[in-house]
Amino acid sequence: MLNKDENELFMRVGPGTAMGELMRRYWHAVGCSELVGAKPQRTKVLGEELLLYRAENGNVVLMDLRCAHRRVALDHGRVEGECIRCPYHGWLYDRSGQCIEQPAEPEGSSFKDKVRLSSYRVQEYSGIVFAYLGPEPAPLLPLFDVLRMTDGVKELMMQTVHTNWLGHAENTVDISHLAWLHGFTFPAYGARKLTYSWDRKPYGIDNVMDVEGSDDAHVSCTGFPTVNRFALPPIDKNGELVLSMIFRVPIDDESIKQYFVRFYPSDKHTFVTRTRDPKPGVYAPLANDWWGIDVPDQDRMAIEQQGVMPDRTQERLGASDGGIILLRQMLREGLSAVANGNDPPCVIRDAAHQIVDFPQKSSIMAKTQSGADYTLGAKAGAELSAR
Ligand code: FES
Ligand SMILES: [Fe+2]
Repeated sequence: MLNKDENELFMRVGPGTAMGELMRRYWHAVGCSELVGAKPQRTKVLGEELLLYRAENGNVVLMDLRCAHRRVALDHGRVEGECIRCPYHGWLYDRSGQCIEQPAEPEGSSFKDKVRLSSYRVQEYSGIVFAYLGPEPAPLLPLFDVLRMTDGVKELMMQTVHTNWLGHAENTVDISHLAWLHGFTFPAYGARKLTYSWDRKPYGIDNVMDVEGSDDAHVSCTGFPTVNRFALPPIDKNGELVLSMIFRVPIDDESIKQYFVRFYPSDKHTFVTRTRDPKPGVYAPLANDWWGIDVPDQDRMAIEQQGVMPDRTQERLGASDGGIILLRQMLREGLSAVANGNDPPCVIRDAAHQIVDFPQKSSIMAKTQSGADYTLGAKAGAELSAR
């Protein structure tokens, strides 16, 4: 369990908090490329209200949401070239956040030179807009394996979940839930006697599950601090495993945005973006499932039902919770590294390590034919060529 102070310390990610400072040392997904256009949109990441738009030259811009003048939200403004103009008194900001026009100020005034909004580094990769909100120099964007794959069918699904980020991160290492929460969907390990171990890696943690009666371990991976990589059963009979990863990005202390990427090799080359807006406490039903909930909502149920900001002073961790203990150790290391001016775990600065291949494997999943539609999401756009 955590004491009250550490539980709070771990969960709060706003500007100026210790965990917020740690989380700002990593690149985070902040949007789906297909959904970011010339119409400015508001978003929120790590407790900061931000503005996101695609400039006329195609570049994506991320900056403070509110005009420095009288704090109007700039998603009601308009894009001019790479700049954004405030709709109230017409102040114009360039992509760096620098104010470059103040139409109502006297001719020749230098006031605008002193006005600057924060703007952030952005990179688009595999249909996702990633941003870095921390201090310079920025680390390298990790090029995870599923993101790099293009020779097949890829799907990106975005949804908001209204609970604190830490429960989501802990869920990635909490592999003893697989046999129970997902036991009906994946009978290869449902209610079976399993053993667990966790290996610390340069990218995070390998979560290893040995299944009774199988000589091949099941391995899923955690990309520290908020990324999950795993396999799902083939959609088509005798098809390929669905290689999956989830980015769970704190919106604020009480919600996260989830970006779920699935890929399987195929002659069809497609890329589809979907969105979903699930209501807290409402889960897609599945009559035969042990818990009556369809697989895309099972983890969301378990995380939401711990509470929006869970009280970890009351939990009772056992030997099967070694992954949670390791993850928390890494968070403590990260907090202390940042406090001492050092890089926290898993930050990449050497280009030789920018490509990250996870050793995810699951022969038991390969034997499961689910035929499931894992997403339940609404399709956001036409099928695109693979990017
Ligand atoms: S509030 Fe934006 S220009 Fe005045
Ligand atoms: Fe799960």
